[in-house]
Amino acid sequence: MTNVRGWPQWPDRPRGLAYGGDYSPEQWDEETWREDVELMRAAGVNLVNLGVFAWATIEPTRGAYDFTVMDQVMELLGGAGISVDLATPTASPPAWLAHEHPDMLPMTHDGHVLGLGARESFCPSSPHYRAAAAAIAGTLARRYGRHPALVMWHVHNEYSAHVGPCYCPTSAIAFLHWLQVKYGSLDELNSAWGTSFWGQRYSDWQQVGPPRQAPMPTNPAQQLDFMRFTTDEYLACYRNERDVLRAATPDIPITTNFMATSCKHMDYWRWAAEVDVVANDHYLAAEAERNHIDLSMAADLTRSLAQGKPWLLMEHSTSAVNWQPRNIAKLPGELRRNSLTHVARGADGAMFFQWRASRFGAEKFHSAMVPHAGTSSRVWREVCQLGADLERLHEVRGSRVLADVALIWDWPSWWALELEYRPSVDVSFLDRMRAFYTTLWELGVTVDFVAPTADLSGYAAVAAPSLYLLDDDGARNLAGYVSGGGTLLVSFFSGIVDDCDRVHPGAYPGALRDVLGISIEEFHPLRRDEVVRLSDDASADVWSEHIVTSTAETRSTFIDGPDAGCAAITRNVYGNGRAWYVGTRLDSRGLSALVGEVLGDARTVERMESSRAAARMESSRDVEVVRRVGETASFLFVINHETDADATVAARGVELLSGQQVDDKLVVPASGVAVVKEVTDP
Ligand code: GAL
Repeated sequence: MTNVRGWPQWPDRPRGLAYGGDYSPEQWDEETWREDVELMRAAGVNLVNLGVFAWATIEPTRGAYDFTVMDQVMELLGGAGISVDLATPTASPPAWLAHEHPDMLPMTHDGHVLGLGARESFCPSSPHYRAAAAAIAGTLARRYGRHPALVMWHVHNEYSAHVGPCYCPTSAIAFLHWLQVKYGSLDELNSAWGTSFWGQRYSDWQQVGPPRQAPMPTNPAQQLDFMRFTTDEYLACYRNERDVLRAATPDIPITTNFMATSCKHMDYWRWAAEVDVVANDHYLAAEAERNHIDLSMAADLTRSLAQGKPWLLMEHSTSAVNWQPRNIAKLPGELRRNSLTHVARGADGAMFFQWRASRFGAEKFHSAMVPHAGTSSRVWREVCQLGADLERLHEVRGSRVLADVALIWDWPSWWALELEYRPSVDVSFLDRMRAFYTTLWELGVTVDFVAPTADLSGYAAVAAPSLYLLDDDGARNLAGYVSGGGTLLVSFFSGIVDDCDRVHPGAYPGALRDVLGISIEEFHPLRRDEVVRLSDDASADVWSEHIVTSTAETRSTFIDGPDAGCAAITRNVYGNGRAWYVGTRLDSRGLSALVGEVLGDARTVERMESSRAAARMESSRDVEVVRRVGETASFLFVINHETDADATVAARGVELLSGQQVDDKLVVPASGVAVVKEVTDP
């Protein structure tokens, strides 16, 4: 299958769901390779990411190649019927390259050059780095492009994960050129950045640079442009390699692994269109309570980046990672629940970092499919069980998840919301996003994430949690959605500034005043731990504000705090739709009641009920129900995160993991998973 550009969209193999992990044979001897391949077959592995950090193995000194490891391992894997997603090893440039070109090392905002000895030691704007990366990509394409085991290219690894923006002199020049293209003239830049403030006006392009550490916060518009530039530079690195691979092997799909919810630096809406297969890495915050909800959020965001098409879980862990303060091991069954939640939410495969646990290096205490304890271990048994489960679910491949509700997710707004000198340090992007997502998750509602300018017409309801930055196009889109009959819920500190962090003219929230039918006279952030009560019984913290209604009706008022007696929650009829607003950070009970009310608001409720995944027959808090819909069948995934209570769900069909018939009631044991291939009434 190809897309409109004629690019391949998904590898031909493996035929079912992908299963495997990062494989680093350069850390092992030949005997271990042979054992690895046997064990991979035993576990049901059908795809491996090969050579992610193997640049120095393949090219130990400039231009001198050593393919001994890769040649043999490609043969072994191919001979065993295991497909290869071959990496360009450019996330770990070899020491000789940085020694040749010390100016390719990245620099932090306070002027420190980051050294060698770890990985990712490169500046994304460095011409030396880019040339060497294109060369090694070309070398691999020539050597392995026609190898029968090769099914996909894995470009680089987690672009920008550890360095993010680079502030070195090379980056400074590249940023200057980027600004010249964007603004055309210095007058335009001065106006967009508001440099009449604090006497920042530039009189010569040579004075303009990255927002390096300064005595006080640097210009916010400059910081936002630098973040946009940073996305562009890493994207240019990706395209640089991708185009070499595409030219050599036009039929082989190309991917790179995102970190959807955890990489603040990259505007992934811009990346998604550039890859053939959207792939994501996800690691649980092991100590966080109910961390499976964050996992679902990452999966839903990844599916949304893929525009609803199947995507690939490129990395997660079989058990503990090694980089958190306390690396809690997964409980029995958790690996299965985690993996199948990703599949439930649209992944057509589950891969791990890593195949075999390293004996040396910084990540030796990171879990793997083959742990240090070897095959006499619980992790290995669970790895084999998961391989068998995925095989039983092969027909799920290609099916889609449908969502009626969307949350607006915008990277520039995230950047801007969290710059310095905001009304309260307690307002954070992920906090609000998680709160709204968790509320919908608990109500059993599957959501998509969308950009502010996305087509919203297919959604019964849309929510914008603290969408601080909203440009005119985004504002028009939201207003058009509501006037066309949609239901919008906006939370505090939204629609305040444009794309240059300039306050929209007039009272807040300038970009949304009309559609919400309110204006805000003044923000009244609360003290740490201060709690206010609302007339509908909810309580709230962090934020209060003086809302003045124009056309909106007041649904709830502040009972105490700085805005006692004033509106806290409003609803406005606008065209054929409704726009709700909440001017504080509601507690979870209050937010749940509000979201429930908004979903039940006229004309959305019927539709929601018709598409809701399934009725949970008993109230259990942590049971996840998601449906994937294929051309000829649909699949109901039920993941029971409760460790001490069974879950009962209405379903009819065949439970694929056990092969059991389900007549009308499915009981999923505590910590278990079930997937029903559904029989639907004619
Ligand atoms: C990922 C990375 C892997 C490995 C893993 C450890 O972010 O892509 O190479 O380092 O983290 O959890």
